[in-house]
Order: sequence, then structure tokens, then C-alpha cells
Amino acid sequence: MISANELKHDLRSELINIIPSGYLSQLPRSFDIIGSKGRSVAIIEISPQLKQYENEIAEAVTRVHKNVVSVLSKETERSGDYRIREMRLVYGDTNTEVLHKESGCVFKVDPCKAYFSPRESTERERFRSMILENEEVLVMFSGIGPFPICMAKNNPNIKLTAIELNLEAHKYCIENIKLNKLDGRINAILGDVREICPSLNKKFDRVLMPLPKGAFMFLDVAINVLKTSGILHFYHWAPNDNLWNEAEKLIEEESKKSNREVEIIRRVKVSAYSPSLWKIRLDARIK
Ligand SMILES: C[S@@+](CC[C@H](N)C(=O)[O-])C[C@H]1O[C@@H](n2cnc3c(N)ncnc32)[C@H](O)[C@@H]1O
Repeated sequence: MISANELKHDLRSELINIIPSGYLSQLPRSFDIIGSKGRSVAIIEISPQLKQYENEIAEAVTRVHKNVVSVLSKETERSGDYRIREMRLVYGDTNTEVLHKESGCVFKVDPCKAYFSPRESTERERFRSMILENEEVLVMFSGIGPFPICMAKNNPNIKLTAIELNLEAHKYCIENIKLNKLDGRINAILGDVREICPSLNKKFDRVLMPLPKGAFMFLDVAINVLKTSGILHFYHWAPNDNLWNEAEKLIEEESKKSNREVEIIRRVKVSAYSPSLWKIRLDARIK
């Protein structure tokens, strides 16, 4: 992500003689760039007042960031099962597929077709060192594969299963496993975790649930495939003034139904979604 100060300063100086000074304060505060040195896509949110200058702004973005070949405008919030948003090409190449490099991994993705957030690299990094030798790990809601790929790269002896509903994301995940030379290391499955998990006839040491908007609806499925004393990594949206209560209660209630006990082992504030709402992660041992 390009920080607010950095972006405002750079874009301001590019646009100072192009758009009226009264509008300069409304320039986007920050934006995402997905891709690598050769070819990237910028995803930008332009306020209604600035829409009339969107081409000038998009061109300025490509002058400031020479690797940006396409500028996409966020048209909606993320929605639906696939957690993608509508985006509109404002400027540049209609081909918005890129290769994003991160911590020794490479991810091919078209952000118009599948969820991917470069802002979550720190969270992916945290998992690299958390996994123990020989663990069997399930990544639910695996998208284009950043979590399983990041974990597999650093941990040669773990066994990974990844489940994703969006066909486009699943196809990228398969391709990304190959691109990262991890063939045979990750079992990537297309489908709904509710249907796939019971059919695996398998229990896991660790289950990741990286779907903050809605993971709670699949807690029963996750708990059922966790070994005794296995670890659950549960993501949730939570209000700033009460970060943990709801998530802890959800895990407690669902575990109780299967006569399992819960030990909360870690509470993590992952990222701020808005001034009042956080993405959080609770790590819980389910006994
Ligand atoms: C927030 S995204 C996270 C994707 C990925 N883990 C990442 O970090 O980039 C959640 C993903 O869950 C997938 N998903 C939603 N419901 C699902 C379900 N019932 N079964 C499997 N995948 C699902 C969506 O298609 C989406 O790709």
C-alpha cells in the first residue's frame, strides 16, 4: 500500500497545475498497487467530486509509479461469497492480470476476478513461523493461495489442504503452486468448505479461517475437522471498543455443541477496516 502522506505529496505535485487547487485536498489518501516492477495495477478510490478529473489523476499515478500499466477505480465495496468488488478501468491496459511478488513468493492474480490484498503480507508472514514440523494444516477460503503458499515455502515438512469456492481464484491457486515450485505440496480443492470438509475424512492440527465477514458461519465445520487440541485461527470483524467478546463467545458456543473445550491462546488485531472496526484473529486450542 502506498501511504497517505507519500501518495498525497507525489500526486499533488503531479496535479498542481492540472486540477483546481480546491480539489487537491480531496485526492485519494492511499491506494493499493498489486504487481511487480515490470507490470502493476493500481486500485484507487476517487471521490465523487474528483470524478471529472479521474483521467488526469490516473495518468498522474502512472507517471509517479512507472510500473503501473492499468488504473482501476473501486466502484463498490467487496461483496458476495467471493469477496470481490466491481472495478472500472480508468486508464491503461485492459489486461489487469499481474504477478505480485512478496517475501520470496509470487502470486499471479487478476484483482477483478479474485480476492487478493497486498496489505495482508504481514499477517501471512506471521504464519510462516507459527507452524510446527509435520503439521497437517487446512486453509479454508484459500483464494489464490497466498496463505498456504507462504506457509509451504518456509516449512518443507508440513502437509497443506486449501479449499476455495471461486473457480477463478482456485485456478490462480493451482497456477501459483506451480509458479512457486510447490507441486505436490498443497492439495488445492475447488468447492464449498461445508461440503468439502466432511468428505475429506481427515482431521487437522491447524485450521485457518481467513474470511472475516462470515467465518463464524463455518465454525461447526472447522471444529469438526480439528484434531483434539488442534488450533483454530478464527478471523472476525469487531468494533474497536469491544474487540474480543463476540468472537470468543462464537467459538465457545460452537465448541460446546461438540463437547469440546476452548483455550484462547492468542488475540491479534490484524488491521483497521475503519476507525471503529477491526479485523481481528483469535487463535484457540480446541480440546
Ligand atoms: C477474504 S477472501 C480471502 C482469500 C485468501 N485467503 C487471501 O487471503 O487472499 C475469502 C475467500 O473465501 C472464499 N469463500 C467464500 N465462501 C466460501 C466457502 N463457503 N467455501 C470455500 N471458499 C469460500 C471466497 O471466494 C474468497 O476467495
